[in-house]
Amino acid sequence: MLKTEHITKTFGSFQALQDVSLEVNEGEIFGFIGPNGSGKSTTIRILLGVLQATSGRAEIFGKDVWKDAVEIHKHLAYVPGDVHLWPNLTGGEVIDLFARLRGHKKPVDKDKWLERFDLDPTKKCRTYSKGNRQKVALVSAFTSQADLFILDEPTSGLDPLMERVFQESIRELSREGKSVLLSSHILSEVEKLCDRVAIIREGAIIETGSLEELRHLTRTQLLVEAKQPVTGLEAWAHELEETDGGLRIQVDTEQLDEVVRHLAGFGITKLESAPPTLEDLFMHHYERRGGGAS
Ligand SMILES: Nc1ncnc2c1ncn2[C@@H]1O[C@H](COP(=O)(O)OP(=O)(O)OP(=O)(O)O)[C@@H](O)[C@H]1O
Ligand SMILES: [Mg+2]
Repeated sequence: MLKTEHITKTFGSFQALQDVSLEVNEGEIFGFIGPNGSGKSTTIRILLGVLQATSGRAEIFGKDVWKDAVEIHKHLAYVPGDVHLWPNLTGGEVIDLFARLRGHKKPVDKDKWLERFDLDPTKKCRTYSKGNRQKVALVSAFTSQADLFILDEPTSGLDPLMERVFQESIRELSREGKSVLLSSHILSEVEKLCDRVAIIREGAIIETGSLEELRHLTRTQLLVEAKQPVTGLEAWAHELEETDGGLRIQVDTEQLDEVVRHLAGFGITKLESAPPTLEDLFMHHYERRGGGAS
């Protein structure tokens, strides 16, 4: 569906992207996460054919994103985090206009999506709040019948209720076999929705894989209660905290086996293990590779 190979982008002497390779398969929800200024939007602008890559290849539907942009955009929906609309058109008119620009007579199931996102389409765009402008862009995307959805922090203005509506809607798309590239800061959102993720930092992809695959990189939190005082965990525990009658420790997931074997000698009465969240994973990279140039 979407593929970039060794994309680089420089702005003057500044290298915004280096060697970015990504692949989004049909029916996949692909998460794209990274801190501010790491290159997510730049990558997306290249995919949209708005910016030209300095080197490398990018294809959508097997077509070149720069040369065949017009053709690609007929089957692609894009939602940015910061939506700008025509101030004198109403939300409903904008949604109709986007559909016509895509070559459709009218948006599909417009009323259903307006209702779902609780959007009044009769107001002029200049009167909409940030969240409502976001909803106009989302309704426009969901009524587009596109095959690929490129979403750049699409929920930045939504309240928690709408965030949930958004997540359900994305899951529906994926059940229909549509593909989604979702760039986000909201790690819990990516974690709930995505099949695979790529982590970008300072213009370079530092990890790609399924959440299962990436979790081995990080830590598991254990809560242990035992008949005898538990000792000798220093070799494994990254963090060790005493709780009421037990211990809370963080260990590298790959050492879990050794740790559990060690614990078995103390007469365990309670053992809880929580999988690492994407947030842990992100922080882990962030810490390990430092804040500056690495
Ligand atoms: N037109 C431009 N000219 C010069 N530098 C640019 C330009 N566009 C982006 N950059 C730089 O490229 C880097 C990546 O920016 P980008 O907008 O892709 O980050 P991002 O990951 O989307 O960040 P955020 O999470 O804040 O949206 C930043 O350092 C930014 O300043
Ligand atoms: Mg951005």
